[in-house]
Amino acid sequence: MCGIVGFTGKKQASKVLLGGLERLEYRGYDSAGIATVSDDKICVKKAVGKIVNLKNLTENGENVPGNIGIGHTRWATHGAPCERNSHPHLSNDKKFAVVHNGIIENYTSLKKELVAEGFRFKSDTDTEVVPMLLQKYYDGNFFDTVAKVVSRLEGSFALGIVSTYEPDTVYAVRRSAPLILGVGEGESFIASDVTALISHTKDIIYIEDNEISVLKPGLIKIYDLEGNELSKEISHITWDIESAEKGGYPHFMLKEIHEQPKAIRQTVECRIKNDKIVFEEIALNAQKLKKINSIYIIACGSAYHAGMVGKYVIEELIKIPVQIDIASEFRYRNPIVNENTLVIVISQSGETADTLEALRIAKRGGAHTLSIVNVVGSSIANESDDCLYTWAGPEIAVATTKGYSTQAALLYMFAIWAADVLGTVSPGKIKYFIKELRKLPEKIELILKEEEKIKKLAEKCGKPESMFFIGRNLDYAVALEASLKLKEISYIHSEAYAAGELKHGTIALIEEDRLVVALNSYLRLSDKLLSNLKEVKARGAYVLTCTTEGNTGAVKESDEVIFIPKTDELFIASLEVIPFQLYAYFVALYNGCDIDKPRNLAKSVTVE
Ligand code: M6R
Repeated sequence: MCGIVGFTGKKQASKVLLGGLERLEYRGYDSAGIATVSDDKICVKKAVGKIVNLKNLTENGENVPGNIGIGHTRWATHGAPCERNSHPHLSNDKKFAVVHNGIIENYTSLKKELVAEGFRFKSDTDTEVVPMLLQKYYDGNFFDTVAKVVSRLEGSFALGIVSTYEPDTVYAVRRSAPLILGVGEGESFIASDVTALISHTKDIIYIEDNEISVLKPGLIKIYDLEGNELSKEISHITWDIESAEKGGYPHFMLKEIHEQPKAIRQTVECRIKNDKIVFEEIALNAQKLKKINSIYIIACGSAYHAGMVGKYVIEELIKIPVQIDIASEFRYRNPIVNENTLVIVISQSGETADTLEALRIAKRGGAHTLSIVNVVGSSIANESDDCLYTWAGPEIAVATTKGYSTQAALLYMFAIWAADVLGTVSPGKIKYFIKELRKLPEKIELILKEEEKIKKLAEKCGKPESMFFIGRNLDYAVALEASLKLKEISYIHSEAYAAGELKHGTIALIEEDRLVVALNSYLRLSDKLLSNLKEVKARGAYVLTCTTEGNTGAVKESDEVIFIPKTDELFIASLEVIPFQLYAYFVALYNGCDIDKPRNLAKSVTVE
C-alpha cells in the first residue's frame, strides 16, 4: 500500500525523503515521487517503477533543492500506475503539494464541484481533489484551510501537505490510515511507519484520527479540528536499524523465517510468571471472562489462518464456541455481538482497513475487543479495548512468517490463560501446556536445520501447474497457510482443502502426478486422513506427507515425507508451518520470483 514520508529541517530534504521511501518499499508500490519547497516554488519529481528510477531522475536527490518536502510510494487504486497519477499532486496555482494514502470516498462529487468552479484535473486519482480544495479554501490561514478541507473529506486518508505559503512547515492529518510523527534534533518527520524513520530518530508521536499535526524544524504541534492544541506523549521505540535490514540473508523472508524462534520466545517468555500465564496489559479479567458466552476471531489473510488455529485450540480448552470470520465478510453481515461477546481481532500491521472496520463494528455492538497486533501504536492496537502485542519485531517481507507464528503463539497463550481462569483444564495440565509451549522455539530451530532438505524437495517438485494441501482440524488450518504462502510468492496455483471435503467435488482435479501435500500431524485424525490419501493415490497423485517424528503409520501412502519434532498436538501448527514457509520460499527462488515484494501485493492493506 502507499507509503508516505515528510521532512522539515536543515538537511537536503530530497535525500531524506528518498531514503525513507526506500525503507517503505516493502509495503508494495508501483511508482514514487517527491515534492520539496525552495525559493517560493514547489519542485515535484516522479517516476514509475522502482525507487531507483526516481533516484536516477534526481541524481540521488542532488538536483532537487530545499530543506522541506514530502514523498510517496503509490500502490494504484484510482487510475493506472503512471507518472500522471503518481503523487505528490499539486493545486492548479502550484502553491500546495499533497501526498495521500487511503481512499477519498466522495472524490467524484468533490471533483464535479471543483471542475464546475474552473479547476483543471490532470490525474485520475481521488487524491487530486485535496490540493484543489486547499487552493479553494485558502484565506491566509493554513491551519484553518487544512481543517476546512479535512471536514469535507469522506473515507480514509493519511495526508502530508506542503505549501509555499509556509515554506518551513509540513502539515499532516490522518483518518483510518496510518501516519506517525518523528521527533528529531532540529528536524521533524512524518511517515507511514517507523521503518522509514529509525535511521533518523526513535522518538515517535502516535496521532489519532482527525488530529492536525503542524511540523516545523524540531517543533511539532498537534491540534484537534477546532484548533485546540493537544498534548501528546513521545514514545521511544526499541527497534534498531539492523532489525529492519537483511542481516546477511538474501531476502527478508528468509531472515524472518529464521527469526521465528526468537520472535516466539520474545512474545511468550515475558508473559510467564511462576509457571502461570500473566497478561498484565489487558483489562479482561476472570470476572469479565466468566460472562463471555461466544467468541469471534476476525482477521484477513494469514492472520485469519492463525485465527483458525486459535479457534480449534480455544474451543478445545475452554469449551466456548468460537466463530472465525474474514474481516471483509464480517463487516457487511450484521454480526450478532453483544456485551457477552469477546471479539479477537488479529493483524500484524494493525492497519488493515477491513480488520479495523470490523473492530469498530464489534465495539459498536457492545463486545469486548481484544487485538493481537505487531505494530505498536497502530490503529487497531489503539482502538481495541485490550491489545496483546506480538513481539516479532519489524516484518518487512510481504509474505508473513514470524507475524503468523507469533500470532498463533499468543492465541495458545490466550487459550491456556482462559482455561486456567475458567477452570476448564486442571492445574497440572495447564503447567504441561505451558512447558510444551516454551519448547516450541527450540523445536522450530531443529526444523530450520533441515533447510537444505526442503530446498532439494522444492527443486525436485519444481513448478507444478497446480497442487493441493490437505489436512483435518489443525492440519487443515496449516494447509490454508501453506497454500497461501506458496501462491503469493511463487504464483503457483494451489488449493487448501479439508481432507474429508475433497470427495465432494475437488477430487475431480486429481490426476496422474498431481502433487498433494498431506498434513498429517494431528494424530487423533491421522487414520481418517490416510483414507483420504488412499483416494487421491488411487487417482495417481504424488503425495508429500508432513507428520511428527515416529508416526510411521502416517507415511504409508506417501512418496515423500517431512518429519517435524513431536509436540502436544494442540501446538502442531507452529511446527508444521515452518517446512512449508521454506518450501514456498525455495520454489519462488527456483522460479525466479521477486520474493519479498510479490506482484500485485502490498504489505499493509490500508484500503478496503
Ligand atoms: O497486517 P495484517 O496481519 O492485518 O495483514 C493481513 C493480510 O493482509 C496478510 O496476512 C497477508 O495475507 C499476507 N501477505 C500473507 O502472507
